[in-house]
Amino acid sequence: MRRPLVAGNWKLHGSRDGNARLLAALRTGLDPGWAVDVMVCPPFVYLAEAHAALEGSPVLLGAQDVSAENQGAYTGEVSAGMLREVGCSHAIIGHSERRTLYGESDELVARKFKAVVAAGLVPVLCVGETLQEREAGTTHAVVQRQLDAVFAAVSIEEFARGVVAYEPVWAIGTGRTASPEQAQDVHAFIRHAASMRSARMAGGLRILYGGSVKGTNAQALFGMPDIDGGLIGGASLEAGDFLTICNAAAGTVT
Ligand code: 13P
Repeated sequence: MRRPLVAGNWKLHGSRDGNARLLAALRTGLDPGWAVDVMVCPPFVYLAEAHAALEGSPVLLGAQDVSAENQGAYTGEVSAGMLREVGCSHAIIGHSERRTLYGESDELVARKFKAVVAAGLVPVLCVGETLQEREAGTTHAVVQRQLDAVFAAVSIEEFARGVVAYEPVWAIGTGRTASPEQAQDVHAFIRHAASMRSARMAGGLRILYGGSVKGTNAQALFGMPDIDGGLIGGASLEAGDFLTICNAAAGTVT
């Protein structure tokens, strides 16, 4: 049984006051009995404060990105070891906004995966196709290429430490979510690709869906057999909506 994970990627949003309110609302609203992992990923500068605000709560803390390097002359970068030190357990890598806006290659993402695992954190590896790629019928090939770069760089044991997030680029922030069937198709493909490396690893691999998940569509998405939770952008900034999504994930646990 794969325990669902619902992660809120705040992106470039937040303020000290706003974060304090949001985290307090999550702390109060979360049912400790829920069989679901819940995580928030604020911008780097708020991580330490968020960790303090979450003390004693089961809410996990993740970063939105990480350096592939451990230390050295890399101005502006933040290492996985630093993230661990301020209380992170996870780091998102290869988000489509990093890939497209900042030119991150599959190879760089693979190096980040390795660095995150080496620091004892969980990488949340984002993959997904653009609208153009989907319309050209290359969705599976694109996702396979993104996965292969990581498979080439890490062992099966290292890959098994990670989480995969399928985020079709055309569904991110557009209000146009993938249908549960479209998402399930790619999730099943990802699990199949992983099973080519190791059936055991693939069976335990958590694969999250991200792209315009809301309180209103979460249940149908999470009800699909290979969808193990969500990576939530916009709806993670509003406690009520985010908690509804967490509740939907908890409801899929039998
Ligand atoms: P939205 O939920 O705002 O579409 O963002 C999804 C996402 O990119 C999460 O990483």
